[in-house]
Amino acid sequence: MQRLQETTEKALAGGGPDRVQAQKAKGKFTARERIHYLLDEGSFQELDLLVTTRATEFGLKDKNVPGDGVITGFGTINGRSVCVFSQDFTVLGGSLGLAHAMKICKVMDLAYENRVPVIGLLDSGGARIQEGVDSLDGYAEIFYRNVKCSGVIPQISVILGPCAGGAVYSPALTDYVFMVEGISHMFVTGPDVVKQATGEDVSFDTLGGANVHASKSGVCQFVAKSEPDCFRQVRELLQYLPQNRWERAPRVANPDPIRRTTPLLEKFCEVDPRKPYRIQHIIWQIADEHKFFEVSDHFAKNIVTGFCRMGGDVVGVVANNPGHLAGAIDIDASDKAARFIRFLNAFNIPILTLVDVPGYWPGVQQEHAGIIRHGAKLLHAYCEATVPKVTVVLRKAYGGAYIAMSSKHMRGDFNFALPSAEIAVMGPKGAVEILYSRELAACKTPEEKDQLRASLCKEYAEKFASPYQTASSGSVDEVIEPSQMRLRVIRALKFLKDKRDPGKHENRGNIPL
Ligand code: HXC
Repeated sequence: MQRLQETTEKALAGGGPDRVQAQKAKGKFTARERIHYLLDEGSFQELDLLVTTRATEFGLKDKNVPGDGVITGFGTINGRSVCVFSQDFTVLGGSLGLAHAMKICKVMDLAYENRVPVIGLLDSGGARIQEGVDSLDGYAEIFYRNVKCSGVIPQISVILGPCAGGAVYSPALTDYVFMVEGISHMFVTGPDVVKQATGEDVSFDTLGGANVHASKSGVCQFVAKSEPDCFRQVRELLQYLPQNRWERAPRVANPDPIRRTTPLLEKFCEVDPRKPYRIQHIIWQIADEHKFFEVSDHFAKNIVTGFCRMGGDVVGVVANNPGHLAGAIDIDASDKAARFIRFLNAFNIPILTLVDVPGYWPGVQQEHAGIIRHGAKLLHAYCEATVPKVTVVLRKAYGGAYIAMSSKHMRGDFNFALPSAEIAVMGPKGAVEILYSRELAACKTPEEKDQLRASLCKEYAEKFASPYQTASSGSVDEVIEPSQMRLRVIRALKFLKDKRDPGKHENRGNIPL
């Protein structure tokens, strides 16, 4: 018993008081504190505490390597089981040697076999240089498991320190990446290598800090101000997710009446159709208790993705946002939405699509960067999704973008439109310029031209820029009253509840798009 106690105490001490103090001086929690904050109180059960490296080269023989720099185990979050690993920077900089990698693999296998989410807390100098190729092989084993688990169990990565070189690819393969301002950094090559290779002077934060990856690269979906804020967000996200692909996301009853009317949407229908607004205002109106948990809120703001509950059940929302780039679809929006839709489809979460889209974002930059290739991902994701799909056209739905946004013939299950919807091949102005170019050119004065254009636009808008022509062909199932939108969406989702037997569908990997 005494030996067990001594060995355990030594292992629990991590890199020792000096290194723990250095960790704190950087404003960071220790690996153990992180697990404590993340999991339900007292639920953590550690595994492999006594594992250490067997490598002996470059002085490792004489180094104390407790737990080999990573803490692994299982516990609960909101009462539901999860597996977790937490890299300990106080032990050899949290670097990944073979034993360290095998500990992570073991806990990932445990998560996979027991069908529970796996959460990685990363804080590491990368491949343990002293262990050479063994470390690289260790990464390969983790990557392999990330892909095997993809679409089977939710995988979450929380970056809480450096994450450099090839090490960034494990988080990139997982479903959601969290970062904390000031302490999290991700890059394939660090500032020094960048300087040598390209001559660019760049700081850690500017190259790969939380805000950069949340807003520019789209690598991270959630950014937090502090570690406790980050763990709170992870716990909140998990409330919207099932434990695995065979389950449904947890239903949570709440007092918000299903029949609650949404009169503000009536006002919305009366305002100028060119006026920008933030789509979140519409989502808050219809969601249970006005709660919406946004995913990737800083990236590609022209499309909004996230989770809410409707009638107690979890729904994934994909919505154009006229408040940014007029809600047009561009490359980043396509990638963001397509990946989210594929996640929802993998994990049996119904999709609510809110449409207000003038088209694709035009320009040479977009064309040359591959809007065709990226835009196709959005079409593919919607077409292959077999989870319940409910679509509401709020205002504009023009051209190819109308089709892309879960239209009826892309197999939307229920497609509704508000009376304010404008569904057409293109907007009135563009259409009139093409259809009546000769008539407009024949006008003798600019005033005459403007007058003719205005009357043609009015005529076109009356015929096409409304939902009624589309409703008459059945491409919109129903034009609904704005005040009834919440009820109608919930009713549709309830009807579609058993659309697909979640136990029967094949594995749907969540490839990073
Ligand atoms: C072994 C490492 C290490 C590593 C850090 N340490 N990284 N030991 N292998 N990769 C050790 C340091 O030697 C030091 O030990 C202790 O951890 C703390 O590191 P410091 O440098 O003192 O900390 P800090 O100043 O905060 O700097 C952190 C750091 C820096 C930015 C991460 O340590 C660093 O640049 N490390 C190397 C990063 C790197 O190039 N890794 C390889 C990436 S390539 P002592 O005992 O001296 O205190 C890669 C390939 C993956 O990972 C491929 C996958 C396919």
